[in-house]
Amino acid sequence: HYLGLDLGTSSLKALVIDQNQNPLATASVPLTVERPHFGWSEQSPDSWLKACEDVIAILRREAPDALAGVEGIGLSGHMHGATLLGDDDQVLRPCILWNDTRSHAEAAELDDDEARRITGNIVFPGFTAPKLLWVARNEPEIFSKVRRVLLPKDYLRLWLTGEAVSEMSDAAGTSWLDTGQRRWSNRMLERTGLPLSAMPRLVEGTETSGTLRGELASRWGLKAGIAVAGGGGDNAASACGVGVTRPGTGFLSLGTSGVLFTASAGYDPAPETALHTFCHAIPGLWHQMGVTLSAAGSLEWLSQLLQEKPGDLVAQAGDRLDEPGRLLFLPYLSGERTPHNDAAVRGAFVGLSADTSRADMVRAVMEGVAFSMRDCLDAAPHTGWVRQLVAVGAGSRSSLWLRIMASVLETPVALPAAGDFGAAFGAARLGLCAATGADPDAVMTEPPIAARYEPDAKLTEAYARAHQRYQALYPALKAAAI
Ligand code: XUL
Repeated sequence: HYLGLDLGTSSLKALVIDQNQNPLATASVPLTVERPHFGWSEQSPDSWLKACEDVIAILRREAPDALAGVEGIGLSGHMHGATLLGDDDQVLRPCILWNDTRSHAEAAELDDDEARRITGNIVFPGFTAPKLLWVARNEPEIFSKVRRVLLPKDYLRLWLTGEAVSEMSDAAGTSWLDTGQRRWSNRMLERTGLPLSAMPRLVEGTETSGTLRGELASRWGLKAGIAVAGGGGDNAASACGVGVTRPGTGFLSLGTSGVLFTASAGYDPAPETALHTFCHAIPGLWHQMGVTLSAAGSLEWLSQLLQEKPGDLVAQAGDRLDEPGRLLFLPYLSGERTPHNDAAVRGAFVGLSADTSRADMVRAVMEGVAFSMRDCLDAAPHTGWVRQLVAVGAGSRSSLWLRIMASVLETPVALPAAGDFGAAFGAARLGLCAATGADPDAVMTEPPIAARYEPDAKLTEAYARAHQRYQALYPALKAAAI
């Protein structure tokens, strides 16, 4: 059996599969995000270890045989977070997360031709390197103690295996990786005042990074010497889960963030488009993606505000695909990456009227997120970039949302059959590859499809007009940002 652990922003999820990749057991434990100041977003690394203990305890209770049979582990996690470790690897401050925009000035400073040439990407405020410049300037006593910087799932790995290791897909989101060469860039490290020794060793996602520590193995009733795979950043791991490992295939992830992702055989960066070009979790592959920072996160925000569970709220929007509404929503709750690269902009409802209902607001949120995904699609330098998008993430549970997406993106959206084909599954697959040496091409197959949503030809024009109204608002929001 193989265990995938996905450290998400809002929960840590575990999935056990058998050697034929059938799911055997799953469990998840919620995580919280602290927002102590405007634009800040932090999480305590200790909470990840606690959540991991808890998730294993659930599996031990509910699926002891599935767990006891585990022979390989794969890790996935939210990307870009800066986990700062001092002597003896003690945590120096809360982890600064991917959707934290405090270091926008430092990002703009680092983001020059040299950085784009080496890393293949804009240095976005959410990426790891600018966070370290911010810490150096604003918390110098902490910066002086930094001995090591780890990405979130790699801190979990340090605890699981005792080894400081990262892998290419997550490392590509730090602005410290030479993405074409798949190795750390001394130059980018130097520009943030860090030595190469602050970086973990690099492996490919399918390789073994270490083995589960004996103490944890015996406490959890697991075999000795279980291989822990490099794994992947949550997007590359999701791609492994849905078999998006061949050029032209793509997925649409509606998690806290929204991602439009495609695999590419070669390294072909296009930083000017604000698309991300990262290494895939599979050797010799890269991928490109557009990222909108608040996708299902926008619905979560609305549901908290209106004090209704996201599922109940979504149900109020009904399931009929209609012409887009008058109300517009711009989902820039944490600023935006693709295509605007704007940390300061914030979201808006525009067109509120005396009779605006909850249902109108939910629909506007769904449509607004779809428009922002359309902006990601349009940012791609090549047309016909993706032929079909497989839907993953919590938001894919709403068929209405997927139908809106298909019509707005003018691209078919395929929903995998019931089951778990997300990042935890991809991580388990990477664990399988590392433990058995199986060929990733044979392992990363496409999931069975339960439903395929085609663009509705009668509505695409109305959605295109609404998208134009939506696009007209960004300059005003930019001007209004403080
Ligand atoms: C990708 C990104 C997000 C996080 C969220 O660049 O920032 O998708 O990985 O989990």
